[in-house]
Amino acid sequence: MGYKVVVAGATGNVGREMLNILAEREFPIDDIAALASRRSLGTEVSFGDRTLKTQDLEAFDFTGWDIALFAIGSDATKEYAPKAAAAGCVVIDNSSLYRYDPDVPLVVPEVNAAAVDGYAKKNIIANPNCSTAQMVVALKPLHDRAKIKRVVVSTYQATSGAGKEGVDELWDQTKAIYNPTDEVPPKKFQKQIAFNVIPHIDSFMEDGSTKEEWKMVVETKKIVDPGIKVTATCVRVPVFVGHAESINIEFEDHLDEDEARDILREAPGIMVIDKREDGGYVTPVECVGDFATFISRIRQDSTIDNGLNLWCVSDNLRKGAALNAVQIAETLCNRVLKKG
Ligand SMILES: NC(=O)c1ccc[n+]([C@@H]2O[C@H](COP(=O)([O-])OP(=O)(O)OC[C@H]3O[C@@H](n4cnc5c(N)ncnc54)[C@H](OP(=O)(O)O)[C@@H]3O)[C@@H](O)[C@H]2O)c1
Repeated sequence: MGYKVVVAGATGNVGREMLNILAEREFPIDDIAALASRRSLGTEVSFGDRTLKTQDLEAFDFTGWDIALFAIGSDATKEYAPKAAAAGCVVIDNSSLYRYDPDVPLVVPEVNAAAVDGYAKKNIIANPNCSTAQMVVALKPLHDRAKIKRVVVSTYQATSGAGKEGVDELWDQTKAIYNPTDEVPPKKFQKQIAFNVIPHIDSFMEDGSTKEEWKMVVETKKIVDPGIKVTATCVRVPVFVGHAESINIEFEDHLDEDEARDILREAPGIMVIDKREDGGYVTPVECVGDFATFISRIRQDSTIDNGLNLWCVSDNLRKGAALNAVQIAETLCNRVLKKG
């Protein structure tokens, strides 16, 4: 016996990946509904070898549906997630709306699967920000061994992290570089993204950091350990898919780079590719379509007593969003909503 599953935002970057991943991982599904806004009514989306027609989220009745994977942004989530939850359907949400709500678990299954059990207070589970998700998968096994005190992270984030419009803007501006009569001014991003990098993602906070940077701090504390100090610089780069991160970690106890490599090799969700030779590391284009978070360039930081540096790359639409949401759904089904 399977589950009745809804994907809301099925025409978007994340929603399409959710459908792909549900099919790839053979999630036990009895019935599936693909939802988007009314303007996309009837748009065809793929689900394995089937084609689904999208329905209007506004008119959809969630009664009798088990799980809804939401990827529609905070404004629409605010309107529709409470409706779905009140109808008895558990919402797994990709927006930032509920991430910091103490009554909503924020889950990365490799790190804090048991937190899923707290879903019942609101019938909602939150999925973290894409940059946080891949980083905490790498931090958790190292934290369990040597207790992390502080993390300094710089991100190199793909344009697909800003939705369909972000991908289109990079594509259109790149073409326009070769055909200057077709000038494409910045719209989704603050400055030209083609052949450039932009140290600004989401809005500015009072202390000069951005909301994206703040999210990495707060979410890491909620998912891994409130005692970990995090400072982040988040940068948009002209890559379509795949976020990369340079992570510097300071530990309470000494952790040798070889032991760290062995720990990460054994850790769930991680693939270590770390050869000290040309090309012996992973770059964003190589992680596209993969489930793993890839770790490379593991090395001691000799400027502090107990420090390590590493390079972390993952498909932002997968581990950073759709895959993590499907893994949460799998965890929920295995731990709580058991059927058959
Ligand atoms: N991309 C990432 O790396 C990433 C990572 C983590 C979390 N997220 C979060 O996931 C969500 C979706 O991101 P995305 O990249 O997939 O965006 P996207 O490509 O722009 O897609 C947005 C989706 O939401 C639907 N939608 C928007 N407003 C709606 C409304 N009022 N009613 C019904 N459907 C509506 C759109 O439907 P139409 O096509 O009909 O407009 C579309 O299916 C966002 O909350 C984002 O913050 C994204």
